Amino acid sequence: MKKTFYITTPIYYPSGKFHIGNAYTTCLCDTLNRYKEEQGYDTRFLTGTDEHGLKIQEAAKKEGKTPIEHVDYIAKLAQDLWKGLSIDIDDFIRTTEKRHEVVVEKAFEQLLAQDDIYLGEYSGNYCMSCEAYFTQTQLKDGHFCPDCGQETTIVTEETYFLRLSKYSDRLLDFISQNSEFITPETKKNEVIQFIKSGLLDLSVSRTSFDWGIKVKSNPKHVIYVWIDALLNYLSALGYDSKDDSLYQKYWVNGDEVLHVTAKDILRFHAIYWPIMLMALNIPIKFRLFAHGWYLMKDGKMSKSKGNVIYPEQLTEKYGLDAFRYYIVRELPYGNDGLFTPEDFVSRINTDLVNDLGNLVSRSISMVNKYFDGTVSNKTVNHPYNAFAIDLEEIAKKAFIDYQVYMDEFKVSNALFEVSKIIARTNKIIDETSPWDLAKDESLKDVLEMVMYHLLESIRIVTILYKPVLIETPSKIFEMLNVEHKLQTFLSVEFGLKNTYAVTKTPIHLFPRLDAEKEIEVIKSLMNPTVHKKEVVEKPEISIDTFDTVNILVGKVVSAKYHPNAKKLLVFEINTGDRVRQIVSGIAEFYKPEEVLGKKVLVIANLKPVKLRGEPSEGMILCGETENHDLYIIEASNSLEPGDNVR
Ligand code: MSP
Repeated sequence: MKKTFYITTPIYYPSGKFHIGNAYTTCLCDTLNRYKEEQGYDTRFLTGTDEHGLKIQEAAKKEGKTPIEHVDYIAKLAQDLWKGLSIDIDDFIRTTEKRHEVVVEKAFEQLLAQDDIYLGEYSGNYCMSCEAYFTQTQLKDGHFCPDCGQETTIVTEETYFLRLSKYSDRLLDFISQNSEFITPETKKNEVIQFIKSGLLDLSVSRTSFDWGIKVKSNPKHVIYVWIDALLNYLSALGYDSKDDSLYQKYWVNGDEVLHVTAKDILRFHAIYWPIMLMALNIPIKFRLFAHGWYLMKDGKMSKSKGNVIYPEQLTEKYGLDAFRYYIVRELPYGNDGLFTPEDFVSRINTDLVNDLGNLVSRSISMVNKYFDGTVSNKTVNHPYNAFAIDLEEIAKKAFIDYQVYMDEFKVSNALFEVSKIIARTNKIIDETSPWDLAKDESLKDVLEMVMYHLLESIRIVTILYKPVLIETPSKIFEMLNVEHKLQTFLSVEFGLKNTYAVTKTPIHLFPRLDAEKEIEVIKSLMNPTVHKKEVVEKPEISIDTFDTVNILVGKVVSAKYHPNAKKLLVFEINTGDRVRQIVSGIAEFYKPEEVLGKKVLVIANLKPVKLRGEPSEGMILCGETENHDLYIIEASNSLEPGDNVR
């Protein structure tokens, strides 16, 4: 039977569009999940949205929406984004779903009945943004939230408490007995320190707002959003429901469960969550990986700073694989990393364009040139054999190390191992100079041996990139003419494919990015206000001069293509006083039937001319984009033909 692997991202707060930081966790999980699938695991991948709490209630209000309208909209944004990034999820959970709410309700009542939750009163410094209380010593500068930096306020309320203190020794024991429970090690130590400094019982209900799951036995209380949210990992598996087969399979009897989060929510996952599980008598099956943040040069990404970049902006311009590769390759294991346009462009140009792309196109074209596309595995007795053997050994070791790194969630290091194979393969081309070998008929077998090794290496490298790259592997397999289904980890071995008959028409994999230009483009995406457009400059005019231009509202009565000019449309426009003919160069952008009835702006006193034989009495005003596309400037519906524009 296959071993199981259950992986989760945090469920995201629907606070707006998802930036590349959010996308990082999800792409990382997707990569690890696909890697496990390649290894033959039966995998399950969960993500979702965390839809309750004051923050959401307030955000909805600000937008003039009900909370459910707000979260519906954002959950859809998340689902669309993950689809666009080819995130292969098995389930998307929303905490406003019934299947989740009943689990939370029941778990809370169970803990209450067991006296693990009790009613009390709390007064403390509360951070509205993080929805958490902080002790005086935890606050930054006596006032500010240690997590997000915003000002806290003193809140006093009747609240339920979860007895964290009761479980702190058990939790410390669990952590010391399960040395791999929290990774990286530095984060584990932070958690241990935090527990040892003394756990206060946790306030787990709120009465100051009502957007959340109510305490069943005391509905004026809403369950604290983190108690609600953490249970998603179980409710999505059908825990405590009629059909709990997924829960039994992936959790109770499962082999591996992995929660991936960033460091900001470590405490919730490493302390509150295992304590909840202990109290609920549920086995702690998961491991936790807390990664660092993607930061911008001026700190955390935030819309207000205007330094945010969104995944769609990068995938649209540079392609899905380039984005996915960059995002999981660049951030170092366990640390924060900077997103910079320079690094983005250079990473793509170096790893994907120069190394991988070049290797593939050079190899395919040489195999075509020297062997008409077909080469076989050849054993030859020649000193160049040593290069091939070295390559085989390097690839073998890289594959082992790649798996060790992936198993430690060090995706960036694992990908570096693949780069090592590519670099060694490119080096063989320099070492053996195939163009020289080709000149000597007696070295034909040596040349074939080299070519064969290039192709085998490309095949292996492509398999190892499968967890990250989505579109490229099938293109490469297509070019190598190998059966895609057979290209799995089981076939990462030199010599498994005996003969290649490669394509005659190579597909170009990654276009080289013009670094200077693209860096500017990305900068302008990050901060649209910095990107000033070059606007047309004209000499100043007086109001009197402007007044000499007679602009009128007109309505399109008819439109047809110009009989002698492809780019022109011939309009009949009602300008109030009469119906006049105007010829306009917008046939590339509008079909005649699309403009019928439009209210447009007409320069009515322009000197009449004939355009390719058709008289034109005026001009229709259009706006022109940077790409020189034209759009008609339409007049408000309240305006009528003949109304003056000034
Ligand atoms: N809703 C909670 C999680 C509940 S899980 C039971 C939450 N949501 S969140 O929308 O704020 O997203 C947090 C997660 O987004 C982080 O833990 C991290 O995985 C990811 N990231 C947010 N910003 C990030 C970066 N700048 N860099 C890397 N990851 C980032 O907290």
